[in-house]
Amino acid sequence: MFAPYAADMRILNLLALGLFTSLLCAQPGMELYRQQCSACHGERGRGDGPAARFLDPKPRDFRSGYFRFISASNSVPTDGDLWEAISAGLPGSAMLSFAHLPPEQRTMLVDIVRGFRRDGLRERFATAIQDPAALEAAVLEADTPGPLVDMPAETPNTVDARANGALLFTRLCSACHGADGRGVYDPARLTAEGDVAQPRDLTRGVLKGGVEDVRLWQRIRAGIPGTPMPAVPQRELSDADTWDLVHYVQALIPRGQQELHDPMPWTIAVPRHKGTLPTSADDPAFAALKPTWVALAPFQSHTRTVEGVSVRALHDGEHIALRLEYADRTYDVAGAKAVAPDGVAVRVTSTAVPPVLPIPGSPLPVDRALWLASAKPAADDPVFDKLTPRFENPDGVCRSPIGPEHVGRAQWRDGVWTVLMVLRPERAGHIAETVNMPVSFAIFDGSVARGPLPAAFSHWQRLHFER
Ligand code: HEC
Ligand code: HEC
Repeated sequence: MFAPYAADMRILNLLALGLFTSLLCAQPGMELYRQQCSACHGERGRGDGPAARFLDPKPRDFRSGYFRFISASNSVPTDGDLWEAISAGLPGSAMLSFAHLPPEQRTMLVDIVRGFRRDGLRERFATAIQDPAALEAAVLEADTPGPLVDMPAETPNTVDARANGALLFTRLCSACHGADGRGVYDPARLTAEGDVAQPRDLTRGVLKGGVEDVRLWQRIRAGIPGTPMPAVPQRELSDADTWDLVHYVQALIPRGQQELHDPMPWTIAVPRHKGTLPTSADDPAFAALKPTWVALAPFQSHTRTVEGVSVRALHDGEHIALRLEYADRTYDVAGAKAVAPDGVAVRVTSTAVPPVLPIPGSPLPVDRALWLASAKPAADDPVFDKLTPRFENPDGVCRSPIGPEHVGRAQWRDGVWTVLMVLRPERAGHIAETVNMPVSFAIFDGSVARGPLPAAFSHWQRLHFER
C-alpha cells in the first residue's frame, strides 16, 4: 500500500534516533532552535537535520560560513540579514517565514545562527592558532560584516534606461541567467557545498532575497556567496548603470508572484454552518466564503509543482469541512501502472506553535487526514468514478481522523483539483472548546514524485472557529 506519510515519519524517526538526547539547552533560545529549526538545519547547525536529505537546495550549513542573501561587501551576514531570512523566509525554497515568532525569539535565533557560524570559524582556525585569546580575536574579525552595500538615489526608470539595462544584462548576467532571464542549467557550475547551482528563473518572479530595489542592489553588489553568482563592484558597474540593470530585472518579474509565495502563517476563518455540512465542493455555502491562499514550499526548489492551495472552511461544532482547490497540470492516479498518485495530507494539532516538520522523539498531538487519487474503486464507495477518487487512510504510524463519518470527494477538471474533506479532530481538541487550531497542508504531485514525500508543504496556518 502506498502510504507516503507513514514512510516519511518512519524515516525521520530512524534518522534521528538518539540525536536529541544529549542536548544541553544552555544558550537562551536553544530549545526554540531545536523545536523550529533543527529538523532541517541539524542540532549543531551543520545543515544535516533528519529532513535535509530530502531537500534541494539543502538547508544552510551555518558553520560553513556561506550565507547567500547578504548586504555587506565581505560575504559576512549582518544580524539584519539573518533577521530578514528568519522573518521573511526564502520564498520558493523550503525555508519558511518565522514572522509569527515574537521579535525577542527571532533575535535569540539570530544569535544562535551567528554562534554556529563562529563555532565553524573556531574549528577551522584552531589548527593554526593555539592561543585562546588570539583565536577568539581571529574569529571575531572573520565574523565582522564589512561596509554595507550603498544604494544611491534612484535614477529615472525610462524606456532608454531599461534598454541600457538589457544590454548590461546580456553582458554581465546572461551567461547564467540566459538572454531571456529564465536561467541556464549547467551541471558544471557548483555551489560551495558541491551541488549544482541553478541560476534563478527571473521571469517566475519569485526571489529568495526579495524583489525590492534595495534587495536587487544587494544581490548585484554583494553577489550570492557560496554560489557562482559574482559581486559586481562599483568600479565595474557605475551607480547609474546599476539602477538601469535593477529596473530591467524588475521589468522581467511578473507582478504579484512574490506575494503569492510568501510562506507565512495566515488565519483561515471558519464560520459555523447551520445544518448538515456540505457533501459537495460545489455547495453554494462554500461559494459564499472568501478563500485563503496558502503558499506551499517545495521540497525540491527546482521542480515545478503546486505553488499554493486555496482554502475554504466551515464547521458545525464537531466537524471541519475543508474545500481545497489547487492548480496541478497533470492528473496522476494510482492504478494499474505504478504511478505515484496526486494527493493531499492535512494535519491539525493542539500545539500552539508547532514545529514545521515533525520532531523525532517528541510527537505532536496531531490528527492527520490523507487523500490520494486512486483509480481503484473502493468497495465501500458507491459514488466512485474515475473523477471522484476515493479517500485512502494511511496505515499504522499515521492516525487518520477520517473515521466512518468521513466525507471525501475530489475532482480534477482542466488542471485544477477540487478536494472536499470533512474531519473530526480528536487529538487536536474539540472544536466547541477551541478558538484557534493550527492546520497544515502537504501536496503530493505524481508528476514530480521522487519518493514517498509530498512535493510541497505549507506552514502551519490557523483555523479560527467562529461561533
Ligand atoms: C523545512 C526545513 C527548514 C526549516 C524548518 C528551517 N530552515 Fe532555514 N533554511 C532551509 C533551507 C532549505 C535553506 C536554504 C535555502 C536556499 O538556499 O535556497 C535555509 C536557509 C536558512 C538561512 C540562510 C539564509 C542565507 O542568507 O543564506 C538561515 C539564516 C536560516 N535558514 C535560518 C533558519 C532558522 C533560524 C530556522 C528556525 C527558526 C530555520 N531556518 C528553519 C530550510 C529550513
Ligand atoms: C556565474 C553565474 C551567474 C552570473 C554571471 C549571474 N548570476 Fe545571478 N544567480 C546565479 C545563481 C546560481 C543564482 C541562484 C543562487 C541561489 O539561490 O543559490 C542566482 C540568483 C540571482 C538572483 C535571485 C536572488 C534571489 O533573491 O533569489 C538575481 C536577482 C540575480 N541572480 C541577478 C543577477 C544579475 C542582475 C546578474 C548580472 C549582473 C547575475 N545575476 C549574474 C548565477 C549567476
